Amino acid sequence: MESTITEIAPDIYRISTFHEGYKMQFNQFLVKDDEPVLIHTAFRRMFPITRDAVARVIDPTTVRWIGFSHFEPDECGALNEWFQVAPRAQAVCSFVGKLVMLDDFADREVRSLADGEILETGRHRIEFLATPHVPHCWDAGLFFDRTERTLFCSDLFFQPGDPVPVTGADVVEPAREHLLRSLSGPMRNDLPFTPYTGGTLERLAALEPRTLAIMHGSTFMGDGSAALRGLAGVLAETLGPHAAR
Ligand SMILES: [Fe+2]
Ligand SMILES: [Fe+2]
Repeated sequence: MESTITEIAPDIYRISTFHEGYKMQFNQFLVKDDEPVLIHTAFRRMFPITRDAVARVIDPTTVRWIGFSHFEPDECGALNEWFQVAPRAQAVCSFVGKLVMLDDFADREVRSLADGEILETGRHRIEFLATPHVPHCWDAGLFFDRTERTLFCSDLFFQPGDPVPVTGADVVEPAREHLLRSLSGPMRNDLPFTPYTGGTLERLAALEPRTLAIMHGSTFMGDGSAALRGLAGVLAETLGPHAAR
């Protein structure tokens, strides 16, 4: 496995690794700053690949913050491996993520971020938003780089395969296709529709992101608000209480 690195905004790097087994991309995002931030660690078993890719951009021992959306191995499985190489690295996540998951899992003290709290890393100001069950899991949160108006979307806008690094094309219809496919088969029900779904997506749309840093698929550049509102509509249509089944 070889990673592809693309600068998707000034000093924000997309590190994309296509996994032959899963037939999908696992994308990490690196914010190069006085205090470098890694968004998602990828799987523990992918750690050497991710570390070597990060080393093409910065000295991996200088990683200061490791953020992720929710407790799953593609999001944070290699956290403890990162602690081994980066002596000042610290995980940042939601209150629930720290208390319920990481306080047991992580080998180093974890910092929980309050909803709306801003991580100042030098030039970048990165806001944490608590987004329970969006994209999924109780502990879910998302990070928004206010400096470059980049939203780290985690599993929202899922695209299978190995698409191009950056696109300006529609990302809502591919998400709809994935959602419809995911209604059946052994991996069904990956995204829930809850009383919070619509309000959370509207809150994300109101941030007016110009870049959607998607974890599995191409980064989208364009009208992020419209894309998020489109996705909210798709989720309601396919999974909501009035969805045709
Ligand atoms: Fe996930
Ligand atoms: Fe994921």
